[in-house]
Amino acid sequence: MEGGDKMTTPFPLNPTCHPCSLLGLLALIVAGTGSYTPEPDQQRTLPPGWASLGRVDPEEELSLTFALRQQNLERLSELVQAVSDPDSPRYGKYLTLEDVAELVRPSPLTLRTVQKWLLAAGVRNCHSVTTQDFLTCWMSVRQAELLLSGSEFHRYVGGPAKTYVVRSPHPYRLPKALAPHVDFVGGLHRFPPTSSLRQRPEPQVAGAIGLHLGVTPSVIRKRYNLTAQDVGSGTTNNSQACAQFLEQYFHDSDLAQFMRLFGGNFAHQASVARVVGQQGRGRAGIEASLDVEYLMSAGANISTWVYSNPGRHETQEPFLQWLVLLSNESALPPVHTVSYGDDEDSLSSAYMQRVNTEFMKAATRGLTLLFASGDSGAGCWSASGRHQFRPSFPASSPYVTTVGGTSFQNPFQVTNEIVDYISGGGFSNVFPRPSYQEEAVAQFLSSSPHLPPSSYFNASGRAYPDVAALSDGYWVVSNHVPIPWVSGTSASTPVFGGILSLINEHRLLSGHPPLGFLNPRLYQQHGAGLFDVNHGCHESCLDEEVQGQGFCSGPGWDPVTGWGTPNFPALLKTLINP
Ligand SMILES: *[C@@H]1O[C@H](CO)[C@@H](O)[C@H](O)[C@H]1NC(C)=O
Ligand SMILES: *[C@@H]1O[C@H](CO)[C@@H](O)[C@H](O)[C@H]1NC(C)=O
Ligand SMILES: *[C@@H]1O[C@H](CO)[C@@H](O)[C@H](O)[C@H]1NC(C)=O
Ligand SMILES: *[C@@H]1O[C@H](CO)[C@@H](O)[C@H](O)[C@H]1NC(C)=O
Ligand SMILES: *[C@@H]1O[C@H](CO)[C@@H](O)[C@H](O)[C@H]1NC(C)=O
Repeated sequence: MEGGDKMTTPFPLNPTCHPCSLLGLLALIVAGTGSYTPEPDQQRTLPPGWASLGRVDPEEELSLTFALRQQNLERLSELVQAVSDPDSPRYGKYLTLEDVAELVRPSPLTLRTVQKWLLAAGVRNCHSVTTQDFLTCWMSVRQAELLLSGSEFHRYVGGPAKTYVVRSPHPYRLPKALAPHVDFVGGLHRFPPTSSLRQRPEPQVAGAIGLHLGVTPSVIRKRYNLTAQDVGSGTTNNSQACAQFLEQYFHDSDLAQFMRLFGGNFAHQASVARVVGQQGRGRAGIEASLDVEYLMSAGANISTWVYSNPGRHETQEPFLQWLVLLSNESALPPVHTVSYGDDEDSLSSAYMQRVNTEFMKAATRGLTLLFASGDSGAGCWSASGRHQFRPSFPASSPYVTTVGGTSFQNPFQVTNEIVDYISGGGFSNVFPRPSYQEEAVAQFLSSSPHLPPSSYFNASGRAYPDVAALSDGYWVVSNHVPIPWVSGTSASTPVFGGILSLINEHRLLSGHPPLGFLNPRLYQQHGAGLFDVNHGCHESCLDEEVQGQGFCSGPGWDPVTGWGTPNFPALLKTLINP
């Protein structure tokens, strides 16, 4: 566990402004006549499964995260390209966190303006990060409501673990003078993201005996051609991580039981090497158990970290807190898997753009971020009176590697994979198509025989997923109970992550840097080393026009299973060289 002392460091600024407090605040509010709304397009409706418990006492403490405007974002994007494009002389020459800080750190004017504003409101308990572009501050609800005009804090309860959060049902405004300095304020609107996990009924046995009944580590290792030798050597500083956001805990005892039941034929680690954040004493969550158990079965014998509910308080946005942690720690595992996401249309563009920039920062550092593609196929929603597909974020970010899902053609045999109809995939309405996938996506759009009507998706957007793995019928041990038929891209994501960690292991042993942001190389190699899934379609809108069908997989890349599923020896061969 991480110590609690991290939060007690005082606010790093000169305190000369204290006496001017309220006057300074008023001056800032009055200056530039009035206020602006940084996130006018952020959804504020209560997500299903959450209930309001009424207004919070004004003396209660809460924390808010201020995303400060960064510098040199053009240069940052050039550097991402340079370090992740195998043809570039800078390929694999990653930046340190300190280099990134040097680049993106907010201007002195930004730091000064925001600090003055906070101090003027009496907000002193703030914590910055190495890159200085986030400030997490503690204050009373009264102070927060004064600082962010229009906000009103209420308590809500919901989610799978009956989590409490404090949020504002009303939008907030900031003084206009802050517009050039603050991207958004976190901790007001967004509820914890939803997990990409589904439980489906057991398939009907078609008289088959002696074949596998559900996906276990040995099924995964057999299908992806991992041998007993394909495990972490223990001689590198390699590691991998998964992140949990819904007060979902894992238990080491579940991991031990899982490995006793299913881990007989490969070397593995007995426990998680490091937990960052808070592991409550509550029951284990299926999502957390699944992630840990399969990351450690595919990426077997590799040191594994878990980011557990990184928010330290009910008022925080745990996903944002995870990003804040990444910017505050210089030594991180090279591979991170995340099985959570939200509908793009529920998030403000200020937020998504900034989170995307955080992913760029991670890419320059050589971190591989894998996100689940979602569990509703192409998705569906009604906008301006007509149906269209519904992309999910962060899956739709051009700076992460997004993992879709497959099923076995014969659910009881370790054979070819076909599309799992729930596999999330589609086209972003926010991020344009990145150059690395230009050719692959154009090829798909011009050759797919079953393209949905163009009004259902935005063909100019970033298309996902990039890769896939089995997502159907997993065994998980949670709270000492083996649970069958757990499904979702929540399962495929840690499996793919573990396999990339094994490749990193070989790269580190050969003296090469880790893979880093994989997409430019993956598309350049046309998915070499992956099993091309080209049978099946995923689900979408249940209407007359598309009748529940989204996109269909085909030869090469497609927005259902990306380039396909990992064939470890072949993938290793194409990714081992510098
Ligand atoms: C970042 O790390 C430093 C040093 O450990 C700590 O003082 C600070 O509070 C951390 N920042 C946040 C936002 O947690
Ligand atoms: C697994 O890792 C340990 C160190 O954590 C190492 O001693 C052991 O040799 C590794 N097992 C194999 C089969 O490489
Ligand atoms: C690498 O090893 C050092 C020292 O053994 C350790 O402090 C650090 O956390 C490790 N880094 C990662 C990413 O595991
Ligand atoms: C389509 O995607 C582009 C980004 O590629 C975006 O700028 C545009 O607003 C999107 N159109 C719609 C209707 O959402
Ligand atoms: C594993 O190897 C077998 C035999 O070469 C091959 O048929 C199968 O497709 C491979 N698995 C994947 C996922 O490519």
